[in-house]
Amino acid sequence: MNLELTVIGGVDKKGEVEPVERLDMKRGEIIGIVGPTGSGKSSLIGDIEQFAQGDTPSGRYILINGRTPGAETRSDPRKKLIAQLSQNMHFLADMTVDEFLKMHAKSRGKPASVAKDVVELANTLTGEPIHPDHHLTILSGGQSRALMTADIAVISDSPIVLIDEIENAGIKKREALDLLAGEGKIVVVVTHDPMLALMPSRRVVMRNGGMYRIIDTSKEERTVCEDLTRVDDWLMSLRETIRQGNVVEAAP
Ligand SMILES: Nc1ncnc2c1ncn2[C@@H]1O[C@H](COP(=O)(O)OP(=O)(O)OP(=O)(O)O)[C@@H](O)[C@H]1O
Ligand SMILES: [Mg+2]
Repeated sequence: MNLELTVIGGVDKKGEVEPVERLDMKRGEIIGIVGPTGSGKSSLIGDIEQFAQGDTPSGRYILINGRTPGAETRSDPRKKLIAQLSQNMHFLADMTVDEFLKMHAKSRGKPASVAKDVVELANTLTGEPIHPDHHLTILSGGQSRALMTADIAVISDSPIVLIDEIENAGIKKREALDLLAGEGKIVVVVTHDPMLALMPSRRVVMRNGGMYRIIDTSKEERTVCEDLTRVDDWLMSLRETIRQGNVVEAAP
């Protein structure tokens, strides 16, 4: 299915028209949202999540394929267009990973066998392996994010994924973003992390509650991003070495 997500600009916190009038996003695209604390990043994500129609403080409008989404798109869980990875993942249900994934698969009309695929994929994103018999409630922050990311990629058909700061989650964040965008999803990622901010082809800069400007990632920034990726991989491996109680050797 072809899909385009559009944000029509509204006003900032002072009630002034926000400089970016329109933002269009296509499948397979990752778009970054950056800006200081309180600049309106989460609010922008919230507007998208609710399909705002001039009914939020920003007065923005969200369009799907250039049109106002219908009531059924907004409410039918089977047609759920949007999946969200939020700052905190709390599982309320006390069930095992396997039970949860099979139940979710069933509700989405997928075979129970996909539960195994999700766990395998999640385990490529986290350093601490998840076992299907683990209870959801004992998963660490990193394990839950990894599980949710894999779940969104494999089971949920939601073509739009909203992510609010996954940097501190202890998962391979670059791989997680690549995975979701590779499934042809539109990925909107709020971040303070330089590597995640430079990975997308564009990023929206928020200021005072408004979309202030859009920056296209330059060639130079791409190179910086590659360097950062190497540093990040190194950090991950150091973390693992130390966590396993081993002694760190000199830099590669
Ligand atoms: N366009 C707007 N009009 C009116 N109020 C707004 C607008 N955008 C954001 N706000 C308000 O400003 C406050 C801060 O916004 P928000 O939480 O989205 O910031 P943030 O960039 O996510 O901050 P943080 O980095 O701390 O998570 C919120 O109370 C929000 O309701
Ligand atoms: Mg926020």
